[in-house]
Amino acid sequence: MQINGIPYRTIWLHPAQPNCVQIIDQRWLPHKLVIEDLNTLEDIATAIRDMHVRGAPLIGSAAAYGMYLALVNADRQSDWKNLLDNSAMTLMATRPTAVNLAFGIDKVMAVTGHLSEKEDLVKAALKAANQITEESVAHCYSIGTHGFVLIKDILRKKPKDNQTINILTHCNAGWLACIDYGTATSPIYLAHEQGVDVHVWVDETRPRNQGARITAYELLQHGIPHTIITDNTGGHLMQHGLVDMIIVGTDRTTRTGDVANKIGTYLKALAAYDNGVPFYVAAPSSSIDWNIRDGVAEIAIEERNAEEVKMIQGWDGKEIKQVLLTPQDSPAINYAFDVTPARLISGLITERGICEANELDLTAMFPEFRE
Ligand code: MRU
Repeated sequence: MQINGIPYRTIWLHPAQPNCVQIIDQRWLPHKLVIEDLNTLEDIATAIRDMHVRGAPLIGSAAAYGMYLALVNADRQSDWKNLLDNSAMTLMATRPTAVNLAFGIDKVMAVTGHLSEKEDLVKAALKAANQITEESVAHCYSIGTHGFVLIKDILRKKPKDNQTINILTHCNAGWLACIDYGTATSPIYLAHEQGVDVHVWVDETRPRNQGARITAYELLQHGIPHTIITDNTGGHLMQHGLVDMIIVGTDRTTRTGDVANKIGTYLKALAAYDNGVPFYVAAPSSSIDWNIRDGVAEIAIEERNAEEVKMIQGWDGKEIKQVLLTPQDSPAINYAFDVTPARLISGLITERGICEANELDLTAMFPEFRE
């Protein structure tokens, strides 16, 4: 997608230094576009943990490139099994909720585990990392084409004198959370490209404000009409018929269709259910955890530093600053994700098509994961 008319992805190999991975450092958006060089496994781990890169699919690709960098920088005589295991452990410890992290690491492990020469290991890891990245782009594009069908359906049912489709989204499940196109935003970009009058309600998404900072930035860059709302506004809009559908992303979806996504998603789903607003989850297969069934009981919810709740970051006209929002001594707690039970979800938009959020339908779409 584009920034100031220039096409970008979120992660790529340095064009002149194959041992360096470049990213958009998302901590400074929308005020500054900073490209960061990552040269080591530790650089990648820090970038994931401290959210220079974020969003489930991007975390998966970054982790795969992290494995590659660990191999590139290793001594020829390394104990490769040990090195791969330790690198995987370092990366796995960064963020617990998005299953894409394990997906990216496992893909590299699967193609390197049997190799013993450094050149072969490096080549195989890089190939796998590139493959995951390209696949993510293709999957996001497909999600866009399937989701666009839903938008067209809603459009057909709208009165002729009100053809604006109002879509609410939470957090950033846009191209900056992926490699390109995004998951939840992909149908929106496609609809806009095809001349549909779409308008997006952007939840600010406290405390990291991924909606207000990143989704709004993306949409603005692509000329998509949007309005930033506080996290508590969605229910009111739904009660007044101002939301035609909701599309969100996912960090981990169980085989039964429970969805972990950014904290607050569950409350939007409840309000949508109460108001009969369709609630869709854009779920690439890399975000599905086929090993679990009960989202609330089995998905590890990341708890981040409470300072993220107490402080707020913004632009004062000269520089980006963090200021204290709360009483210094009030305690805060910062759960980063919540789980929306499958029963509240109208459907999952996968790269293979749209299905109901239940095990039967999901495994009919992905028969290779039937038990
Ligand atoms: O904490 P973040 O910013 O990594 O959380 C991101 C989300 O919750 C996204 O909605 C999710 O990863 C889907 S991204 C396509």
